[in-house]
Amino acid sequence: MQPREFFIEDRLEKYRTNSFCNLGESGLSNYTLGEILDQLSISPSELSKIPLDDSPNQGSEELRNEIAKLYGQEVSSSNVLVTTGTSEALYIYFHLLLKKNDQVSLLWPAFQALYEIPMMLGARIHKVESGFADLFEKSNRLAIINHPHNPSGTNLLDSDWELIESFCKNNNSLEFLFDEHYRFLDFAADMTRSGALLCANCSATGSITKCFGVVGLKIGWLIAREDLIQKARSFKDYLTHTVNPISEFLACKILQNRQTIIAPIKERIQDNIHYFQSKLSSLKSIEHFLAPDSGLVSFPKLKGGILSEEYADRLYENTGVFVLPGINFETDGYIRIGFGEVTERFREGINRWVAWESK
Ligand SMILES: Cc1ncc(COP(=O)(O)O)c(C=O)c1O
Repeated sequence: MQPREFFIEDRLEKYRTNSFCNLGESGLSNYTLGEILDQLSISPSELSKIPLDDSPNQGSEELRNEIAKLYGQEVSSSNVLVTTGTSEALYIYFHLLLKKNDQVSLLWPAFQALYEIPMMLGARIHKVESGFADLFEKSNRLAIINHPHNPSGTNLLDSDWELIESFCKNNNSLEFLFDEHYRFLDFAADMTRSGALLCANCSATGSITKCFGVVGLKIGWLIAREDLIQKARSFKDYLTHTVNPISEFLACKILQNRQTIIAPIKERIQDNIHYFQSKLSSLKSIEHFLAPDSGLVSFPKLKGGILSEEYADRLYENTGVFVLPGINFETDGYIRIGFGEVTERFREGINRWVAWESK
């Protein structure tokens, strides 16, 4: 099967650069190179010395070591493959694992790449709206767990982890993929717990791009058992082969300084969430909003009968505020809001939204 259009990307491409207030994005509003260099105390002359060589295909040892430190003792640099964005890691992983008619289950709604690429490979998708039992029972090959979850902003509970752990340990035939793109943005902890190598059949993907406001660096990774990483490294030779050495250098520095950089980012996101909550009663079209406890997106429900695309279009035309319609997640009656916009623009955008709803 050919992949269908990537629904959210098409809309983001159309509006992300023109909107006054971008709540359609699932990442932090991005820093400039100068801002990141300042935060890392790197001088432009230091940057200018980076050789524009190919880096090692698996990723530099230094960066893989930094990434491995984000996980438990089970993970070493040989379990890490550095990729061009998480998307490349997902693409490779699915191609290595899946074949026609394999059954794949995932939490629904979902980031489209998590099911579109498996579908392209002929896999059968089971969309699980609630309950982990279904996630495990409806699949014979792969269960995908995206946490913190895009688009809902929810995270796994301790009881979910207990269930996952006992299931992984008692089921060798099934593979588990934890998509942990938003792992650095846990408001109650340093980082969200990871499912990487919980058992040999557990893999995980991660990224610095959206959490740290450096989407253009395009650095992601795959964590898996060594034999799978070696196969994935070999597959990557047919795709991007190596990552950009400037991105690799900066990614390494960001991870070395991650706690200092992430603290004001978490503050900004929580501040935006609180501001949104303070105005919620004036946003009459929203029926239900669950504040994210990690990550930076939420998926509020619209009042009965409101079509998400029509609502998002009218909101944009009247206020310049861009939100993603739920229909782009193949789930109408919802919108996805991101909380990564700069504070002043976020507040002005919400004020305009409130004024428009009050007319
Ligand atoms: C849950 C999830 N997984 C994967 C990706 C893809 O990540 P990247 O932009 O690093 O390729 C995204 C991007 O938004 C995402 O939200």
